[in-house]
Amino acid sequence: MTAAPSGGSRPSTAPLMAMATGFWMFKTLAAAVDLALFTRLGGGRGATADELAAELGLKERPADLLLTACTALGLLDKSGPHYRNSALSEEFLVEGRDAYFGGVVRFNDRAYPAWHRLTDALRADRPLTWDPDTQESLFSSGDPAFTELFWNGMHSLSAETARILGEEHDFAAHRRLLDVGGGSGAFLVELCRRHPHLTGTLYDLPHVCEVARRRIDAAGLGDRITTLRGDFGRDAALPGGHDAILLSMVLHDWAEAENRALLRKCHEALAPGGALLVCELLLNPERTGPPGAALMGVNMLVETGAGRNYAEDEYLSWIREAGFTGAEIRRFDAASANGVIVARRR
Ligand SMILES: C[S@@+](CC[C@H](N)C(=O)[O-])C[C@H]1O[C@@H](n2cnc3c(N)ncnc32)[C@H](O)[C@@H]1O
Repeated sequence: MTAAPSGGSRPSTAPLMAMATGFWMFKTLAAAVDLALFTRLGGGRGATADELAAELGLKERPADLLLTACTALGLLDKSGPHYRNSALSEEFLVEGRDAYFGGVVRFNDRAYPAWHRLTDALRADRPLTWDPDTQESLFSSGDPAFTELFWNGMHSLSAETARILGEEHDFAAHRRLLDVGGGSGAFLVELCRRHPHLTGTLYDLPHVCEVARRRIDAAGLGDRITTLRGDFGRDAALPGGHDAILLSMVLHDWAEAENRALLRKCHEALAPGGALLVCELLLNPERTGPPGAALMGVNMLVETGAGRNYAEDEYLSWIREAGFTGAEIRRFDAASANGVIVARRR
């Protein structure tokens, strides 16, 4: 065996080890969420390893390994023999809370077996979570279990982004917001709660409107948020009468030609002087990062027929081509977006 060269020139294997074992971290979190560990410890409750093992139906060894790993990952705090939720788990992993993030964990766990076959997707340029020979798109399955899992996951993901968007963009100037492909209603619910003068329309596929309707009614906003069943690929026009249009995590699902057509429809539907907001994980113009946007792009290979995470300058050129002016990017850091592009219809 050749000896390793001495001196400081050789890079460490540490980043490779972190990548090679990234799934250990994810699956530990997913198993703990699956077992409702953090929900059981919600509200500041402390419990010993034996107590938790009994509650979770686990033997001593696996319970000890799980609790030790969760503590090491910052998901639990340990004091003496007692385990408690860390501030992170207490805020985001207790089911039933507004900011519950466990839906994202379950949502990604759904895609985990598909990611196991990523090399196949790279070779075939085909999605892995659904079959394009029998289904129109990722979103078109009417299966109630999938609908529940997918849009609950999207809601967990988008609730935080919606809150941050509400802080970054001044919605005080808008009166009627159209959320195109609005999903569970996370954005409209958050933004209408924040701005009592705002009303909105959520435009999405019929089965998704049903999910959104339940969430909107549960938030007590049924009189201010309308759901409108539609298909932006097939409908000749988007609904009119709005002075702001939001596209959040919609454009990264589709190919360039479809996105340019959708942006033209947004331009036609928007009131003069109205604003377009495009919220996405944007790649930089050099396409060297950031990693969150680049890896979301790979996720689009696994989950969609033609989607990808695009670079900010690509979005800007399509937005200008559709007729919008004054496009600018405001950066922020959220789970499902690292910025919003805001542009105006003249
Ligand atoms: C990735 S999700 C984003 C949901 C939401 N905007 C958010 O950020 O939470 C994409 C959304 O586009 C919707 N969608 C897909 N195809 C559509 C179509 N042809 N017409 C209307 N909505 C569509 C999906 O149902 C889904 O809710």
